[in-house]
Amino acid sequence: MVDLRNQYLSIKAEIDEAIAAVIDSSAFIKGRFVSEFEEQLAAYLQVDHVIAVGNGTDALQIALMALEIGPGDEVIAPSFTFVATSEAASLLGAVPVFADIDPATFNLDPICIEPLLSDKTKAIVPVHLYGQPCEMDAIMAIAEKYGISVVEDNAQGIGSKYGNQFCGTIGDMGTLSFFPSKNLGCFGDGGAVITNDDHLARAARLIANHGSEKKYHNEVVGVNSRLDGIQAAILSVKLGHLDSFNKARSESADRYDALFSDCEFIVSPSKTTHGTHVFHQYTVRVTTERAGARDALSAYLRGEQIPHAVYYPIPVHALPVNVNGTHPTRAGDMTHTNVASDQVISLPMHTELTDSQIEYIADHVVRFLEKFDSVPA
Ligand SMILES: Cc1ncc(COP(=O)(O)O)c(C=O)c1O
Repeated sequence: MVDLRNQYLSIKAEIDEAIAAVIDSSAFIKGRFVSEFEEQLAAYLQVDHVIAVGNGTDALQIALMALEIGPGDEVIAPSFTFVATSEAASLLGAVPVFADIDPATFNLDPICIEPLLSDKTKAIVPVHLYGQPCEMDAIMAIAEKYGISVVEDNAQGIGSKYGNQFCGTIGDMGTLSFFPSKNLGCFGDGGAVITNDDHLARAARLIANHGSEKKYHNEVVGVNSRLDGIQAAILSVKLGHLDSFNKARSESADRYDALFSDCEFIVSPSKTTHGTHVFHQYTVRVTTERAGARDALSAYLRGEQIPHAVYYPIPVHALPVNVNGTHPTRAGDMTHTNVASDQVISLPMHTELTDSQIEYIADHVVRFLEKFDSVPA
């Protein structure tokens, strides 16, 4: 699905030098490499504050804690996402309230949000899924109307823009993941909270550091969540390549699109007209009349040793953790979410894909589906 080794080899000298500089100065935790990366990322994203933390899951938890979300509060989130999006709310004793997606973009459908609001709703957590911006104008309008906060889970969409603004910088807070396979990935775990709000920035920084700004003077209950110096130095190097990395992904997506354009059984990803899709994943729908086509395709690709994945086979509202009753959740109508979980398949997408690899993959997908559909169920 990804080719991290060849990406590393393409920038090896820069990365090796950056890692050596951290080792040489022993600035392993906190220190100048982390603050330099925070400043560089803030400048890139045109946002006032970047607080580097341990991973994208912590970033969500810290953002919700900074917003003082706790027991009994409700948080609107999509169910068609990675579990972390709502896990943070559950962990804090809040209730995730799952809203359905727009079938065209797979993103939270603003129309589904308003009917789920209650006097306990404190926040909306839209996810820019697969790297495509959500309908932020509509989401922000609802948040403003009801006085609730917005935390953009931008784990998958760094570099994507909604209008002229970078995703993650539009809501009250945004979160990022630097997991190795992400569009900006480090060599371990990493994440960040981003915001233009000085008060929330201070709160997030405090919470991420055991609730303390001044050593041994802890003010609030916090966590220990920090990006280390080596990861920060690697991310500083890779940030310089992010635009070209995202361009390579977008070109690969165009190649896939062209190869699938005549195949009636594949729905290629829609591309927003109000921003940029950075293709963290290239995810298609498989839509033959015969049931089980996606799973049959997956089994075939596995046999042919063609990498692929299903993001996400079980929607979060239906995961055992959310149906066993220990952590309460609520869900609206999940029709589009459930259909998407049955139909989606993600194909290899990374910065090192070649035209011939894409042709090989697409050719196998198309030929299999045409044959599959021609056999009576
Ligand atoms: C949408 C989404 N949110 C949050 C996360 C959590 O990020 P991390 O793995 O860095 O904790 C991920 C990671 O895959 C994700 O895809």
